[in-house]
Amino acid sequence: MSQRTLVLLKPDAVRRGLIGEIVGRIERKAGWTIGALELRTLDRGTLEQHYAEHEGRDFYEPLMGFMASGPVVAMVVEGERVIEGVRALAGPTDPIAAAPGSIRGDFGTITRENLIHASDSEESAEREIKIFFPGLA
Ligand code: PPS
Repeated sequence: MSQRTLVLLKPDAVRRGLIGEIVGRIERKAGWTIGALELRTLDRGTLEQHYAEHEGRDFYEPLMGFMASGPVVAMVVEGERVIEGVRALAGPTDPIAAAPGSIRGDFGTITRENLIHASDSEESAEREIKIFFPGLA
């Protein structure tokens, strides 16, 4: 089942020079392709749209501040079961709980700076792709 997903390499990944490492892991999966890719600094409005479902949670403001703290790489990745697949490559939210071999397991320690966002469902993917790449069909 071919899908597409919205991936963000978070400001910690960009600051730490991990763009190539993370994009490389995604690119090397058989049949997955990058449909769009852009380095950009996110404004409050974009972040409010993207994280609308989390408004009011205790981590909301720390997350918003962190995500605006430097440029991110926004990408659309396309291919077989890519929504579940990128989340498996990323590992769980808490990097200490993430297995070695996953992106968060290999490079993260604290939850806020967990390197990567990936859409969690087809519905989220389509909503998020519209926010970041409104020109994509
Ligand atoms: S939930 O309850 O399952 O919806 O939450 P979860 O998917 O684990 O987290 C939602 C997003 O919030 C981020 N998060 C945090 N950011 C900063 N500080 C803390 N403590 C924190 N806890 C969770 C988490 O990384 C998710 O962001 P994205 O961009 O989707 O990865």
